[in-house]
Amino acid sequence: MNAHDNLIWILICGFASIVHITNADLSYSVLEEMKSGSIVGNIAKDLGLDEGKLSARKARIDTEESNQPYCDIDLKTGNLIIKERIDREELCGEKMSCLLRFELVLESPLELHRILLHIQDVNDNSPSFPKHVINFEISESAYKGARYRINEAHDDDIGQYSIRQYELEKNEHFVLSVGEDTDGSKNVELVLDKELDREKEHNINLVLTAVDGGNPRKSGSVNIIVTVLDANDNAPVFNQTIYKATIAEDAALDTVVVKVSATDEDEGVNGEVTYDFSRISERAKKLFSINSKSGEIKVIGPFDFESNSKFEIRVSAKDGYGLSSDSKVMIDITDVNDNAPVIHLKSLTNPVAENVSPGTEVGIINVQDRDSEKNRQVRCSIQQNVPFKLVPSIKNYYSLVTTGQLDREVVSDYNITITATDEGSPPLSSSKSLHLSVADINDNPPVFEEQSYSAYVSENNKAGSTLCSVTARDPDWRQNGTVIYSVLAGEVNGAPVSSYVSVNGDTGVIHAVRSFDYEHMRSFQVHLMARDNGSPPLSSNVTVSVFISDVNDNCPQILYPAPEGSSFMTELVPKAAHGGSVVSKVIAVDADSGQNAWLSYQIVKSTDPGLFTIGVHSGEIRTQRDISQSDSMKQNLIVSVKDNGQPSLSATCSMYLLISDNLAEVPELKDISYDEKNSKLTSYLIIALVCVSTFFLTFIIIILGVRFCRRRKPRLLFDGAVTIPGAYLPPNYADVDGTGTLRSAYNYDAYLTTGSRTSDFKFVTSYNDNTLPAEQTLRKSPTDFVDPFQDLESPLQSVF
Ligand SMILES: *[C@@H]1O[C@H](CO)[C@@H](O)[C@H](O)[C@H]1NC(C)=O
Ligand SMILES: *[C@@H]1O[C@H](CO)[C@@H](O)[C@H](O)[C@H]1NC(C)=O
Ligand SMILES: *[C@@H]1O[C@H](CO)[C@@H](O)[C@H](O)[C@H]1NC(C)=O
Repeated sequence: MNAHDNLIWILICGFASIVHITNADLSYSVLEEMKSGSIVGNIAKDLGLDEGKLSARKARIDTEESNQPYCDIDLKTGNLIIKERIDREELCGEKMSCLLRFELVLESPLELHRILLHIQDVNDNSPSFPKHVINFEISESAYKGARYRINEAHDDDIGQYSIRQYELEKNEHFVLSVGEDTDGSKNVELVLDKELDREKEHNINLVLTAVDGGNPRKSGSVNIIVTVLDANDNAPVFNQTIYKATIAEDAALDTVVVKVSATDEDEGVNGEVTYDFSRISERAKKLFSINSKSGEIKVIGPFDFESNSKFEIRVSAKDGYGLSSDSKVMIDITDVNDNAPVIHLKSLTNPVAENVSPGTEVGIINVQDRDSEKNRQVRCSIQQNVPFKLVPSIKNYYSLVTTGQLDREVVSDYNITITATDEGSPPLSSSKSLHLSVADINDNPPVFEEQSYSAYVSENNKAGSTLCSVTARDPDWRQNGTVIYSVLAGEVNGAPVSSYVSVNGDTGVIHAVRSFDYEHMRSFQVHLMARDNGSPPLSSNVTVSVFISDVNDNCPQILYPAPEGSSFMTELVPKAAHGGSVVSKVIAVDADSGQNAWLSYQIVKSTDPGLFTIGVHSGEIRTQRDISQSDSMKQNLIVSVKDNGQPSLSATCSMYLLISDNLAEVPELKDISYDEKNSKLTSYLIIALVCVSTFFLTFIIIILGVRFCRRRKPRLLFDGAVTIPGAYLPPNYADVDGTGTLRSAYNYDAYLTTGSRTSDFKFVTSYNDNTLPAEQTLRKSPTDFVDPFQDLESPLQSVF
């Protein structure tokens, strides 16, 4: 074959298979009795399908109705193969065309192809007569030409394989006549060709053979025994040649279908007619019986309209002498709605992903009803409250499609009930339940239970202590709903946030990584992320604010006077000071806040307990009464400063007061100090300081005197903010306001010492808030104070 021939061949084959496909139907012809495994045809090729994809598309052969699975598809090659022996006679009986219907089902996308299999007859059955022996009793007076009917033979095969001819064994008396009845059946008769003579022959034995049209031919035969009788007789005669009856499929047992009746003109025994079935199919034998006396044909078995709706029976009537005739009974079964529809689930996508778009086909349903006409018209429905509907498809197929968006987090499975009802009366219905699960898609991010979280922790917490815990919920399934917590990178005060807090990835419990210091930081924020384990993962963020609360962990810090032992400082109290005059002030700060920094002052020990008091909260030391001559010049107070924390912390300091107007008395100062270690250098410095101060004071007095004379008021100090303790002022100028106190605008001064024992410098600065953080005060360097002094218009403020 050359290429050109090949092409033509392919074209011919192509057309041949196209001819087979009508309305997406494939039709094949196959002989009955083929061995299992025989190839009927190649479905894949005939439908133009890729045989490689048959497996993936779950190709399969489904039988319509409840036929046995005679055929199957070979998924590798696409061949339709015989699975089980097919017996045409068993399937279709006498029907001329014997069809098997199959469906080829392919999924994704769903495809249905109807496959029709024509079962061809093979000559596998021989003709056979209803009885092995036929007895005739014929009177010797019978004329030549008398006819005796013989029940025809039967061959299960059809068409060319059915009975073609009858052959009668050669004999003297009889010939065979085969005619055709009106209903198509054969009328086989023996015709008397030569008169009988009882005196010669009592019995005649004949063999009749029926032959079919097969190649080789098959045959069957019957023995005919003719008994020659002596007397004249009449055969019974049926009153109808054909009896027709109709009976409902659901007829009860013993129902009389029809009554046949034959009469015999003879008297006595010769006139007694008995009835019998002369030819009846095996099936009909199980359904009908005949009463030999009355001729009543009764129901003895259940009918099934769907498998057999017509019966043709021959009955014979025989008289006492054995003369017989026969008649035909035709029984039609009428359909009764006795079959409920049957729902077959042909395909189901289970589980179905929750993100399928509405209108997605998830299953295929086939509904069958074996009844006929109206009784097999079926309506299919589904319950209302599910997002699915049935869409009629080819013939009695329905697609189950989604009508809305599925959400596994709301409904994770559906029980779908499909109900099929036929239109018979009364209608029959049946239902089937499907269970459909919805598969998860990672479509929900974890969501924190709160929009933001706050954690409160006392300072000085232990590293590792729990601050708070966060919770995020993700309703998705398994890993798609597993939440993992983490701290988002960021900075707190310039340090990575991870050096402050950590979170347990599984539980969401937040731990402090270090100990917090309220004085260093009062609050900070951390950003956390909750992520699920899906792929891709979904996440959400939340802010956690951590508030650190104060603990009374700082002692009051006394700024003035300087702590005992490290410095030596004293205050001058004018001898003329009245009771209630402020003579000095203890200044302390506390790095804590609130109650923990609320300071109270108390004199715990004094040289003369009645002379000085201290403001509990101001720290101002006042005279309690006017100073008298008898008071000791050197006064020593020990002041305790206590905060209001729980428990409270305290600090003490010593205050040295010198009741004197005369700076010359200062040399004795060293006696006031209990400090044995005071060096000579300190004394010299003090003397020098006093001398310089005296010089300045004298100078100032002169200036002031001049200004006084000009009746000019002295200028107020620098916003009242910078001043000197009254102790350094001469008594007559101390009471500037004449109120008995040193100054109404007396400001609280922060005094700073360098800590050196040999040089005590006082730096004056504005100080209005006794809770001013210590570091702010302490950080000031002496140079910070230089400028204000340089700018002073009046030297009054300058003390040294
Ligand atoms: C579906 O039916 C099954 C078994 O009958 C039952 O266990 C299940 O709870 C039902 N589900 C729904 C969603 O009704
Ligand atoms: C999680 O979601 C993805 C799609 O987002 C899906 O493919 C997977 O099957 C889901 N996992 C589970 C356990 O359901
Ligand atoms: C959470 O924060 C991270 C880092 O800033 C960012 O990449 C992510 O997109 C945020 N997620 C959401 C849901 O806002």
